Amino acid sequence: MNAKPRVFVTREIMQEAQDLIDQHADMEVWPDEEPPSPDILREKVAGAQGVLTNIMDRVDAQLLDAAPGLKVVSQLAVGLDNVDVAGATARGIPVGYTPGVLAKATADVGFALLMSAARRIGESDRWVRDGQWTLAFHPMRWLGMDIHEKTLGIVGLGQIGLEMARRGRGFDMRIIYYSRTRRPELEAEYGLEYVDLPTLLAEADFVSLHVPLTSETRHYIGEAELRQMKSTAVLINVARGPVVDSAALYTALKERWIYAAGLDVTDPEPIPANDPLLTLPNVVISPHVGSASLVSRGAMCMLAARNLVAGLEGRPLDRCANPEVYEMKKD
Ligand code: DGY
Repeated sequence: MNAKPRVFVTREIMQEAQDLIDQHADMEVWPDEEPPSPDILREKVAGAQGVLTNIMDRVDAQLLDAAPGLKVVSQLAVGLDNVDVAGATARGIPVGYTPGVLAKATADVGFALLMSAARRIGESDRWVRDGQWTLAFHPMRWLGMDIHEKTLGIVGLGQIGLEMARRGRGFDMRIIYYSRTRRPELEAEYGLEYVDLPTLLAEADFVSLHVPLTSETRHYIGEAELRQMKSTAVLINVARGPVVDSAALYTALKERWIYAAGLDVTDPEPIPANDPLLTLPNVVISPHVGSASLVSRGAMCMLAARNLVAGLEGRPLDRCANPEVYEMKKD
């Protein structure tokens, strides 16, 4: 009987997903909460045929070179900015990822941040806990921004951006979007208006970011873009922290070029306790929890496990970020 292929899973994942992998592979799961160091990761992957990674593991050329027997990289995320996908493609290695299954959960968090920032929920919760709620009600206190019937600007109309738009429709919002690829079929179905980025920044009451992090989108929203937004506008980022220039965002919030921000991602992560953003009342931050619902994380883990097993068995992955590897294999 052939020995099972070896795989390294870089962090504990849902038991059901571990069980699936276990049936097909000789699996080692990294037991610590902290990720393995790059040296340890290289050592672990060196003799493996498969690796299941997440956004904290760097899958770079050095790692891929150290693992000549690697048949698949399966990433437990939709974002792939930690993975050298081109390098994997050049080596004929398919890269699995988990789009779709986390889109609704991530948009839920995006909308929660949008509402919290607009209606000052994080700020008022801190105030109540600090024992400052000493006057029951005052007509002029805690005034925030309306959400219903306002304009929601979606930057990047992938699956998460579209889910955000659908939530906005439920609040009778006007939805405008800017995306690299225009999606006329979705415009009709969901009542979306396509605009260029300057128009979106100037007209949106809420600017919600849904672009992947690449060399082109690093600091995509910087001083110039923040200055184009309305002084009553709210910025939402559930994509990747470095898409926004944090120093410019700090100034924009402090000097009220914009009204508030809701961030599920920061630059760096974790955000240091002494980061100036944390001194501001008009920013609400969650610790990169967009996909962190029990059901969605479960679905991500199962999809990542299925991708891994398919790669080990030489079958096409359910969700493959570089399907061109299969074309190369035919040549
Ligand atoms: C992703 O999927 O890219 C998230 O950031 C982590 O779930």
